[in-house]
Amino acid sequence: MKQTCLIVLLCFVFGLFAFAQTNTNTLKLCEDNIDEIIGMMTNEEKATILVGGPGSLVPGAAGYTREIERLGIPMTVLADGPAGLRIQPKREGIDQTFYCTGFPTSTLLASSWDPELVETVTTAMGNEVLEYGVDVLLAPGMNLHRNPLCGRNFEYYSEDPLLSGKMAAAYVRGVQKNGVGTSVKHFAANNQETNRLENDARISNRALRELYLKNFEIAIKEGKPWTVMSSYNKLNGDYTQQSFGLLTTVLRDEWGFDGIVMTDWGVKDGTVKSSKAGNDLMEPGRQVEIDRILAAVSEGSISQVELDRNVRRMLHYIVKTPHFRGYKFSNKPDLKAHAQVARKAAEESIILLRNEDNTLPLKGSEKVALYGLTSLDFVGIGTGSGEVYTDHIATMQEAMNEAGFTLDQNLAEFYQHYFAQQEAVQKMERNNRWGYRNIREEAELSARAISLQAQENDVAVYVLGRNAGEGADRVLKDDFELNTNERELLQNLSSAYHALGKKLVVVLNVGGVIETASWKHLADAIVLPWSPGQEGAHAVVDVLTGKVNPSGKLPMTFAMQYMDIPSSKNFPYGQNTSGRRGERKDVDFTNYEEDIWVGYRYFQTNNVGVSYPFGYGLSYTTFSYSKPKVKTDKDGFTATITVTNTGKVAGREVVELYVAAPAGGLEKPARELKAFGKTKLLAPGESETLTMKVSTYEMASFNEKNSSWETAVGNYQVMFGASVGDIRATVSFELKNAQSWMVKMMW
Ligand code: BGC
Repeated sequence: MKQTCLIVLLCFVFGLFAFAQTNTNTLKLCEDNIDEIIGMMTNEEKATILVGGPGSLVPGAAGYTREIERLGIPMTVLADGPAGLRIQPKREGIDQTFYCTGFPTSTLLASSWDPELVETVTTAMGNEVLEYGVDVLLAPGMNLHRNPLCGRNFEYYSEDPLLSGKMAAAYVRGVQKNGVGTSVKHFAANNQETNRLENDARISNRALRELYLKNFEIAIKEGKPWTVMSSYNKLNGDYTQQSFGLLTTVLRDEWGFDGIVMTDWGVKDGTVKSSKAGNDLMEPGRQVEIDRILAAVSEGSISQVELDRNVRRMLHYIVKTPHFRGYKFSNKPDLKAHAQVARKAAEESIILLRNEDNTLPLKGSEKVALYGLTSLDFVGIGTGSGEVYTDHIATMQEAMNEAGFTLDQNLAEFYQHYFAQQEAVQKMERNNRWGYRNIREEAELSARAISLQAQENDVAVYVLGRNAGEGADRVLKDDFELNTNERELLQNLSSAYHALGKKLVVVLNVGGVIETASWKHLADAIVLPWSPGQEGAHAVVDVLTGKVNPSGKLPMTFAMQYMDIPSSKNFPYGQNTSGRRGERKDVDFTNYEEDIWVGYRYFQTNNVGVSYPFGYGLSYTTFSYSKPKVKTDKDGFTATITVTNTGKVAGREVVELYVAAPAGGLEKPARELKAFGKTKLLAPGESETLTMKVSTYEMASFNEKNSSWETAVGNYQVMFGASVGDIRATVSFELKNAQSWMVKMMW
């Protein structure tokens, strides 16, 4: 760093000298001369900096910013995430490979409820970004799980904005520790893939503020990302990338974001409007956008001040990048060490949904009959830009073998053959980034074959899978709901094994929520690892054997049935094509009629039964919660609660703090998540006191009429839950003075 500064200083001094002597422009960009550089740039150069361009520095990177050699402005490299770095693993004429680690997907990371863990994971991820010569990781994705069918939910965290925001902030901090950037995306309200390029999300200001922007607000303030990616969709009539209200009034002026905003890939025609709105960088960038900016500047529709403002932000970004610093990347990150990080992260996040009669943990000595196409075709991540090229994704069959289980060999071979048959189709689908649909044809096994297997084995483990990805939403039939083969297999397994007093364990290797209410009684235990990355199968096996005591909890609600979900009334399920302008009139807009009543906010307030509530997850041990304490001060309150492991094995507990606001003022959900904490690994009998802080601002609701955040006076209940439906302790306090925070209208 010192050396860079010295070089920079020398180049500045020499630059000035040479400029004075010969009047040629040799001044090169450095941290301290951004304004001078802007003063030397032609408008053409300025427009060039605002538009991405082609590049070949890192094959498989999603995009580049353009170089201006005479000013010492290097090209910078942008590549996808969020489950790891996405670059091409092979390069022509080179034997070396460039694989990256496939970490657990965001939904699984959120299930850890452990921001520190997330930060550790993304510190490793960011090292791969740095060592492979990339400047910005295009992640985290953080749109809310408004509806379970959104095809990219696995790239996102939760139905709750606080959990989503805290996870994204931790993600950003971890990656950026490496001196590389992140791009928080897709800002905002990109909650569906159907017609994602054109769909107009029509949302009330209150729902926007409290839900769809709140998670971004937390991530921006607490994570300080270098960049933000605006989304493709419209929001209340304007493309988000062209919305001054969103990109300047809220993001910059109100939240204090000081980085660059880039478009999502494939810019709209309104380049000028985007630039004026505060969208600094058009990606992936075309010459026509440079021409448009230049024309607008010369005719005055983009002022010189606006142009320079965007250029200044770009240069501030560029001077931070490894490419600018001349970092000599190794192309050799420690993939072995990172695989361990990925495995540990999955272990800490997997959720145990059901465990009747202590079916789990298994002893490890059992003869296991392992069922399901997904036992081999394991879904580590998902498809689309979120997929990472890893050199290997462990399968359940492999992980169980490695852990020393005796698997039913005939059955294992049967699935190997079946998988080989299916592979050609699967491969075709994998290579298709766009419009991927996952129809997994489960193998048909006769009831007779299953009864024989039940006689020969001690326990059945069925791995049930779902894949999904960018460009398409999931559908209800055969995806959210089980298909006929899966249902039949479950029923037959359940009858055959239960008839002999043996157990059935189901592993849900799914990218998003599926229906569970109609079949969960058939299984004795259900383990939910989501899409857990390249090492996830090993982590699942460690949970099955009890080597790991599960401590993950649900970051969203599992409804009894799809139609119970409020957004089912307007989410365009069943029309799962991405679509381009004009092609899909029926999904031109989506009215978010459910307003703030998303997920548990709706179910809990209206007493609608669910299959599994938000925040739910079992453990192999039990925990008791002490009487909590709450101390108020002028900024909010601090709560403490002591958790004790009352069971027989070590374990970690997530404690969720919900607040129920007094009646009066705005109508509010019955309870809202306002903080959470996770204990360390507690030995049997061991206790830990968790401290959680909540500010008054965080307790406020958004009053659209006044465009202000407001807290009502009165009695607030602070609830400590093992899930939203399992409150273990409550304490209350009186808020004597109402407070409000006015904000500027967005439009
Ligand atoms: C996706 C983004 C991604 C970008 C670059 C877009 O289609 O929506 O999430 O970062 O492509 O690959």
